[in-house]
Amino acid sequence: MSVSDLPKIELHLHLEGAAPPDFIRRIADEKKRRLHGVFAEDGSYSYRDFNHFLRVYEEATSVLTTPQDYARLVTAVCEELAEHGVVYAETFLSPDFCGGGDVAAWREYLAAMTEAADGAEAKLGVTLRGIVTAIRHFGPERSKAPAICAAETQGRFLRGFGLAGDELQFAPKDFLWAFDCAREAGLHITAHAGEWGGARSVRDTLEALNPERIGHGVQAIEDPELVDILAERGTVLEVCPGSNVFLGVFRTWPKHPVERLREKGVKVTISTDDPPFFHTNMSREYVLLNEHFGWDEEIFKEVNRTALDAAFCDEETRAAVAKRLEGE
Ligand code: ADE
Ligand code: ZN
Repeated sequence: MSVSDLPKIELHLHLEGAAPPDFIRRIADEKKRRLHGVFAEDGSYSYRDFNHFLRVYEEATSVLTTPQDYARLVTAVCEELAEHGVVYAETFLSPDFCGGGDVAAWREYLAAMTEAADGAEAKLGVTLRGIVTAIRHFGPERSKAPAICAAETQGRFLRGFGLAGDELQFAPKDFLWAFDCAREAGLHITAHAGEWGGARSVRDTLEALNPERIGHGVQAIEDPELVDILAERGTVLEVCPGSNVFLGVFRTWPKHPVERLREKGVKVTISTDDPPFFHTNMSREYVLLNEHFGWDEEIFKEVNRTALDAAFCDEETRAAVAKRLEGE
């Protein structure tokens, strides 16, 4: 049995970032929209570096303009997840892209996405849950609307609130209003840190926002004391090795710290981030973790149990997913 056949849990997946390029092209064609500088000649996404990636991401996303577009996207993404044996995933959703931060519009997008996710669960056996993210480079003032959208619509499907985008802009504490608003509404909390901002960014994020999970967090490896703090606090890292290597956060797979963090007792989980942008998928991540760090079935089972414990879903869902993880 190959490790790629194991059932998987993925906690860090940007919904628009998971859109297959053919899907975006099809919607653009239907709307007679010309996209500039999004695709390479071979049809894949094309960008030069991380900041350019963020711009291409937003340009590709600009063709998605209705709740129906987002419902179709959820269906397409769940089909990809099922293909790679993912039984449970959490996806980042952005009210900024879904109705411009207006709560009434966001409700319509969310209803369409929830219906599509429920349909995919019945048909494919993939359970999807949502985490609203504010986009850091849009600034603290604009983070309030997504937080209000999340607070107003949290429930069975919408489980968490987080922060994505350019980590080098603003400080975590600048987003406190949004995080307090979401936390008070009962949402779980995660935030991107330590992808680009170094160990300092992870420390600042822990201190200011006290998240249960950190998106990436891998640059914590630069600071041994911080690694111990993460292990002691039980903060869960949503590690995306293929994304980090593709974007050059670490030059090669052997240099990636995921195994060193795990050995130090940090709770690591595995995700793809924006799979078609980084030419990856969960099967490939598992194969490369096996190849470079010798991760076997036992380790993957432990990592998936960590992910299930850290999942933001309700307990009924967690129990149902546990059974699927055990292959029942
Ligand atoms: N938005 C989509 N992908 C992201 C990433 N890897 N880091 C920060 N923001 C993102
Ligand atoms: Zn991310």
